[in-house]
Amino acid sequence: MTTDAKILAALRANPSGVSGAHLAEELTISRAAIWARMDELRQAGYNIEAGPHFGYRLVSAPDALHADDLLARLHGQREHPRQPEHNPQKHPTANIATHHKIGRDIRVFEETTSTNDVIEKLARDGVPEGVVVFAESQTKGRGRLGRKWVSPTHKGLWFSILLRPELSPQETTQLTAASATALRRAIQYVTGLAVVIKWPNDLLIGGKKVVGILTEMSAEVDRVRHVILGIGVDVNQEVEDFPPEIRNIATSLKIESGQAISRAELATTILRELDADYARIYSGKFSELADEWETGCATIGQKVSVQMGSRLIRGCAEALDDDGALLVRTEHGHLERVIGGDVTLEK
Ligand code: BTN
Repeated sequence: MTTDAKILAALRANPSGVSGAHLAEELTISRAAIWARMDELRQAGYNIEAGPHFGYRLVSAPDALHADDLLARLHGQREHPRQPEHNPQKHPTANIATHHKIGRDIRVFEETTSTNDVIEKLARDGVPEGVVVFAESQTKGRGRLGRKWVSPTHKGLWFSILLRPELSPQETTQLTAASATALRRAIQYVTGLAVVIKWPNDLLIGGKKVVGILTEMSAEVDRVRHVILGIGVDVNQEVEDFPPEIRNIATSLKIESGQAISRAELATTILRELDADYARIYSGKFSELADEWETGCATIGQKVSVQMGSRLIRGCAEALDDDGALLVRTEHGHLERVIGGDVTLEK
């Protein structure tokens, strides 16, 4: 962690205050250097009080995302998982070991074309897996099936993660399941809202989409070089922030909960949960994860239509198979195995 991340982690771990002398000793820098860092943090929007009796204490943090603060929060959540006030549940994966891969390097950009593009470049430069890139806005955010993804400034979480999994290309469905289940848990935990999965990994609240995931892969026939998980979470938009043509199918956490959500808290909870599910894949517990995916998947048991290229299938989504494909019983009684395409839930 950087010095600022360590300072923010210490301030968060000690809400009633921490002395400059203690910080200086812990970080092996002078008290004057601590004072200078506090000043820089204040200029970045952190309200940090100083007093002779309590030392330094953090009163509030800005809404803007800062890499050091995200690292500090992630570290703090691992050390002392804290419960949101409205949520009496224990931290969802408090009992699951994480392996601290996802989020060990976090980078924040004010604007990019697409965070998936930034990660693609980092992947080609040989950066280790687990690096996460957030952008406050994207000029060319993209969705599945060549669609555009609208990413208004400071309103949502637009980020991508680089993974270098030891999986075959066919096994990467495991990552689809991991991303859907981890995001569902994190959002339910932070907001208290009920979230369902629309196969394979859209998340819906009240029938409207709130999260989209774009998985891009570089692979040889039997080996994955890298996978990019690109995640868009609609957090604090108002209805008018969405283009009119998607207002009846998209929503935000703020619209659904009636209150603004801390993007930084949500971001780090998502990274923690994703890391836990990535660790589950590595410790041979994918079947646990697949069960959770199926339980949260509202598509099972529903009438669906699936557009696969020029082919349209209509039927009932019966189950997921062991590889995560959707099994659809068609109107003609055939069982079709769907591995991609655009699924619509029929009324
Ligand atoms: C979809 O549902 O169509 C997937 C949407 C994925 C959007 C995210 S935002 C961050 C990352 N960068 C992109 O350009 N797309 C993904």
